[in-house]
Amino acid sequence: MASCKMQMILALCPFVMLVTIPATYGWGTDGHSIICKIAQSRLSNAAADAVKQLLPKWVEDDLAAVCSWADRVKFRYRWSSPLHFINTPEICSYRYSNEDGVADRCVAGAINNYTSQLLTYNSASNEAQYNLTESLLFLSHLMGDVHQPLHVGFAADKGGNTIDVHWYKRKAVLHHVWDTNMIETAEERFYDSNVDSMVDAIQHNITGEWAKEVKRWESCSLNKTACPDIYASEGIKAACDWAYKGVEQKSVLEDDYFLSRLPVVHRRLAQGGVRLAATLNRIFG
Ligand SMILES: *[C@@H]1O[C@H](CO)[C@@H](O)[C@H](O)[C@H]1NC(C)=O
Ligand SMILES: *[C@@H]1O[C@H](CO)[C@@H](O)[C@H](O)[C@H]1NC(C)=O
Ligand SMILES: *[C@@H]1O[C@H](CO)[C@@H](O)[C@H](O)[C@H]1NC(C)=O
Ligand SMILES: *[C@@H]1O[C@H](CO)[C@@H](O)[C@H](O)[C@H]1NC(C)=O
Repeated sequence: MASCKMQMILALCPFVMLVTIPATYGWGTDGHSIICKIAQSRLSNAAADAVKQLLPKWVEDDLAAVCSWADRVKFRYRWSSPLHFINTPEICSYRYSNEDGVADRCVAGAINNYTSQLLTYNSASNEAQYNLTESLLFLSHLMGDVHQPLHVGFAADKGGNTIDVHWYKRKAVLHHVWDTNMIETAEERFYDSNVDSMVDAIQHNITGEWAKEVKRWESCSLNKTACPDIYASEGIKAACDWAYKGVEQKSVLEDDYFLSRLPVVHRRLAQGGVRLAATLNRIFG
């Protein structure tokens, strides 16, 4: 049951969540769907072809349709629960450590894990070892989770799961506000309750406003195939600067909070999609 190693300024993956919080869904279904839609539209021919081969036939080449599969199997695959997040001490920085060599059971370790599995796609040696359909579905989902700021949150409040707030008039926990409420409120208020319009608006900025930054989002240090540590470091910073900031138990979160944080949500969804595509493009060539 060991988790990623904890060290002075870092800690990862407590297994307590397994017992105490049965469901800590990543971005809700819409968040994940948005990320997978953005990603699939940016795949190279080789990656698009590999994804098509690996996806279950019934989804008809629609990655977004199974982007939340990893949440749905959490109960069947109990071991996979801690792979959705990283919990840190109450310090706004993150450094990966796995000194003991214990399995890297957190979202950063899992992204590396599923990336290396998918790298065997073209080698016959894989056959019996991994189910690469599952590897693809895990990677696509976890790349979204690592971009949800409170999936790299404080252990003390379980990534905002123990912070009770009001989202406008409704009761919620802070974690859920970031998984779901902000995206849903944005869809209702700005996108005609249409998730595709939100995808279009984000895509518009990816190819326009943010085009220069997008190049940087895509790149990965030292020729690595996946760079989850970078995304996790940004995540805890966004959690401190935006998600936790100004929030206490019983805070009422309304327009002030929503409108100032929505750009962060848009950007994290964009980064998740861009980086999922970049990673799959590196994997499949
Ligand atoms: C790596 O993937 C395999 C296959 O899904 C899984 O059994 C294992 O727990 C994963 N380990 C990590 C650290 O993600
Ligand atoms: C691989 O995993 C998928 C999803 O769990 C499953 O539907 C499929 O049957 C698996 N394939 C093999 C060969 O076990
Ligand atoms: C796109 O960028 C503009 C200009 O910065 C901003 O006003 C708008 O909210 C952004 N839209 C999205 C979906 O990110
Ligand atoms: C990264 O890849 C490029 C091109 O393949 C190579 O020239 C360079 O030496 C590599 N850098 C490192 C640090 O491995």
